[in-house]
Amino acid sequence: MTGDVKKRIEQLRRAIREHDHLYYVLSQPSISDRQYDALFAELKALEQANPYFITPDSPTQRVAGRPIEGFTTVRHAIAMLSIDNTYNAAELRAFDERVAKLLGSRDYDYVIELKIDGLAISLRYENGILRTAATRGNGEVGDDVTANVRTIKAVPLVLMDNGDIPAVVEVRGEVYMPTSAFIELNKLRTEAGESAFANPRNAAAGSLKLLDARITATRNLSFFAYATGELSEPLAPNHYESLQRFKKLGLPVNPHIVKAKNIDEAIKICDGWNEKRLELDYQIDGMVLKINRFDQRGILGATGRAPRWCISYKFAAEQAETVVESIDVQVGKSGILTPVANLTPVLLAGTTVKRASLHNFDQLKRLDVRYGDTVVIEKAGEIIPQVVQVKIELRPHDTEPFEIPTQCPTCGFDVAKDEEGVYIRCLNPNCPGQLKERLRYFAGRGQMDIEHLGPALIDQLIENGFVKNFADLYNLREDQLAGLERMAEKSAANVIQAIKESKTRPLWRLIAALGIRHIGGQSAQILADHFGTLEALMAAKEEELAVIDQIGPTMAQSICEYFSDPENRSVIDQLIKAGVKPEPPETRRSTKLAGKTFVVTGTLENFTRQQAEQAIRQAGAKASSSVSKKTDFVLAGENAGSKLDKAQKLGVEIITEEQFMEMIGERSE
Ligand code: IVH
Repeated sequence: MTGDVKKRIEQLRRAIREHDHLYYVLSQPSISDRQYDALFAELKALEQANPYFITPDSPTQRVAGRPIEGFTTVRHAIAMLSIDNTYNAAELRAFDERVAKLLGSRDYDYVIELKIDGLAISLRYENGILRTAATRGNGEVGDDVTANVRTIKAVPLVLMDNGDIPAVVEVRGEVYMPTSAFIELNKLRTEAGESAFANPRNAAAGSLKLLDARITATRNLSFFAYATGELSEPLAPNHYESLQRFKKLGLPVNPHIVKAKNIDEAIKICDGWNEKRLELDYQIDGMVLKINRFDQRGILGATGRAPRWCISYKFAAEQAETVVESIDVQVGKSGILTPVANLTPVLLAGTTVKRASLHNFDQLKRLDVRYGDTVVIEKAGEIIPQVVQVKIELRPHDTEPFEIPTQCPTCGFDVAKDEEGVYIRCLNPNCPGQLKERLRYFAGRGQMDIEHLGPALIDQLIENGFVKNFADLYNLREDQLAGLERMAEKSAANVIQAIKESKTRPLWRLIAALGIRHIGGQSAQILADHFGTLEALMAAKEEELAVIDQIGPTMAQSICEYFSDPENRSVIDQLIKAGVKPEPPETRRSTKLAGKTFVVTGTLENFTRQQAEQAIRQAGAKASSSVSKKTDFVLAGENAGSKLDKAQKLGVEIITEEQFMEMIGERSE
């Protein structure tokens, strides 16, 4: 019996590793997410029931259980050098001349690679098992980030075995955050009132330096292998073949790596990528040219900090110069004042830029941006335009430094610097500027999703005194709206209808729409699922909130502060009086199954036994293992045996998987 379990566990681990490789390394998944989840859940359940079989290299063990106190350091067996940079073709040719001279011939190939903009990591595999992962650090000594790197699905915990893995294989490569993951992460962070990362590299570095690997696991980091460190036996006579060995070992290698016969060919390949790079879902800041043969690398050697067989060709960051026409101070929904530069429109990396955030007043002061200044703007990681430099030599004579506001630009109330010391906040709880932002957010797509209620209309509603809080929206009348600028009767009716429709949005949307500091859409969903009703959430104690998975103390404190404010409670009362009745989360809706008893038998297509039983419990019903007269339903899959016979004998209702999914309200994909 135990032998069977062990065999099945090993079988599942092999299957999951193979599917991880297909999905994360080769981008060619061969099964659906649901099928994958089923394999994973089965393995987890078997390991839970037989914990003595758990090994650190099991796919279930990627994420560590708890945060660590700090990082220990690792001394690299072979130093991690950096690369000398060049910025144009002439410099590349000069490099090629030096190589030819030192080798005494032109008989060498280049390998041309993308220069991935992330951070260098060294992975040490011993007997095929990932032992340590370390950052570059100062090149000699780096931080041990093994727990965090283990969460990166593109990094195999076990090398694929073809019976010929050297005892020690050190793999070096770049950990990076895909651009799409970066944009999503920043969206979530700003929604939750946290600061955004400036670019994907900082986001990747920040995510790898977290003490809690469970958070790293949510950051969608990825990895490309591009070099070796210590090896107990050579993998190949040259770099290109060594990369092919990497692939066979299950390591991710960038698919755009090519060989070039000479420097002209190399330059052509590099130049092609200056434009094509915008199509990639990761950032590259240049190209890397490497001499292919290891024996030739040996002859070339290294200077103190960089090898002589390798050179990078950096793309110039796309920049543009333009003039600051004015600086606006915007008030955010939580009162934060943000300076924004209005610019003479200019084309930058394919889009016209008219405005650039100056982030905060510390940044503005550091750069000393003034009206009329000519500034250099850059797209941070080719995404967000920002002011990087002021051209002092072009500054007009009569300029003054920008005055940091001591009062809110919209309501005139006092402002104060945040505890963290970077942000300046308006202290007026009734500030119309904040109200505008809060209402825009409330009505926004990710929250109550009220169609037709755009920023211009919100401004008018506030200016006319029709709306002073969220609840007032639900008491608006058509005749009030019809009198407003650019508001025909038909559209007034549309607005009222759209507001009415939002009354029954799902609970999580309402929670998100309140704009509680640190609570974005994702945390609102967790809270809605956990509490089921707004009333239950409002009554929750801080200690109770703080222990919810993925909520934590900062959010807990913010939620309690929000609901203990009498003003906020009064607005929520008014919302409910006005007929706002959020739809409770799905699992709580199906009370029709409360008290029913299910027995699961046979093999199901979409669920493991454990998953089906979990779904039964989530729907408020009971899952039992034996059939009796008290059983309400027997869920029968393929090859159902004696339990099915017994159910038939006792006249218990037998249901198919499809009927079951309908009952529990599971949507089919
Ligand atoms: S090779 C001795 N290949 O660039 C050379 N590095 O500026 C070892 N990088 O620290 C590195 N893409 O973090 C190499 N395809 C690539 C790379 C790459 C990005 C990074 C790496 C290195 C930095 C040097």
